[in-house]
Amino acid sequence: MLEKLNEIEKKALEAMAQAKELQELNELKVKILGRKGEITLMLRGLKDLSPQERSEFGQAANQVKDRIEKLVAQRINEIKARDLNQRLEHERLDVTLPGLPINRGGKHPLTLINEEIRDIFLSMGFAVAEGPEIEKDYYNFEALNVPKDHPARDMQDSFYITDEVLLRTHTSPVQVRTMEAMCPHLPVKIIVPGKVYRKDDDATHSPMFQQVEGLLIDKNITFANLKGVLMLFAQKIFNEDVKVRYRPSFFPFTEPSVEMDISCVSCKGKGCRVCSHTGWLEILGAGMVHPRVLQYGGYDPEEVTGFAFGMGIERIAMLKYGINDLRLFFDNDKRFLQQF
Ligand code: FA5
Ligand code: MG
Repeated sequence: MLEKLNEIEKKALEAMAQAKELQELNELKVKILGRKGEITLMLRGLKDLSPQERSEFGQAANQVKDRIEKLVAQRINEIKARDLNQRLEHERLDVTLPGLPINRGGKHPLTLINEEIRDIFLSMGFAVAEGPEIEKDYYNFEALNVPKDHPARDMQDSFYITDEVLLRTHTSPVQVRTMEAMCPHLPVKIIVPGKVYRKDDDATHSPMFQQVEGLLIDKNITFANLKGVLMLFAQKIFNEDVKVRYRPSFFPFTEPSVEMDISCVSCKGKGCRVCSHTGWLEILGAGMVHPRVLQYGGYDPEEVTGFAFGMGIERIAMLKYGINDLRLFFDNDKRFLQQF
């Protein structure tokens, strides 16, 4: 057995000395020392020997293993050093090569629309106000003249957190929050961009979407002022000959109330899936601020009047860019986003 062991060692050392690549060395190592390697197999045969022979042979085998392992390690280092030297000799860093281009990100279409809407209203003298997305039932409904059991609550399917706290369903709660903060200052002239949440989900409704609220309170504000501001807005964001229509509507916090539609860009008014085959897309609700809402905000409805509106940003972006499914805004598909 000892003879066989010496034989294995001799062959192994020769082969290792000749090996030129790391892979060869590793294969040799497995062949001799691995789980099914030659020496490992020999050691398994130990159980058939006498105790005396067993200890003699075991010792010898371990010494051989040590020597082979040392040589493998030494050869690996030699080959690595050789490879490194070769690379250092041949590879040169060309600092004059042009760098890899870094792609610059762009703004999301909804951000672009948001900025455009802001600019239009800022140019008309409105200021930007903000409010919390997790809102009290009081501001989202009560103070907007929607008492607890009012059927109008059903118009906006809500995500409640507790009985008194919910994800705001519209940006209108910021109306009373701002009035409270500003009263008795006049005018109150703000827009409120922000995210809102409803249990909605289809081609024109998303559970999270964005609105821009508008609120103007002063002495002698009339419905004519509202129409003037909204018409100017529609002309600036779309174009001079945009078609607009007002429909009488109902909101508990405005009286009278309207909804403003714009002709559907997807079908040019002929009727399609996007506009539910009506030719029109509703983009905002509006009206004269209800006297009770003015009172909740601290103002005297005998002295001041105001108008308010709330528009859906996604709808405006769809109209402006001719997009037929609102969910594209949230899919994060680069092919879609790169177009803006
Ligand atoms: C409101 O939310 C009122 N707060 C608007 C308002 C403000 C009226 C001030 C009067 C005075 P409405 O639920 O209709 O109204 O929503 C307003 C706009 O948000 C709609 O015209 C539409 O453009 C958009 N919108 C509504 N639901 C969704 C939805 N699930 N996904 C995307 N946009 C939506
Ligand atoms: Mg509506």
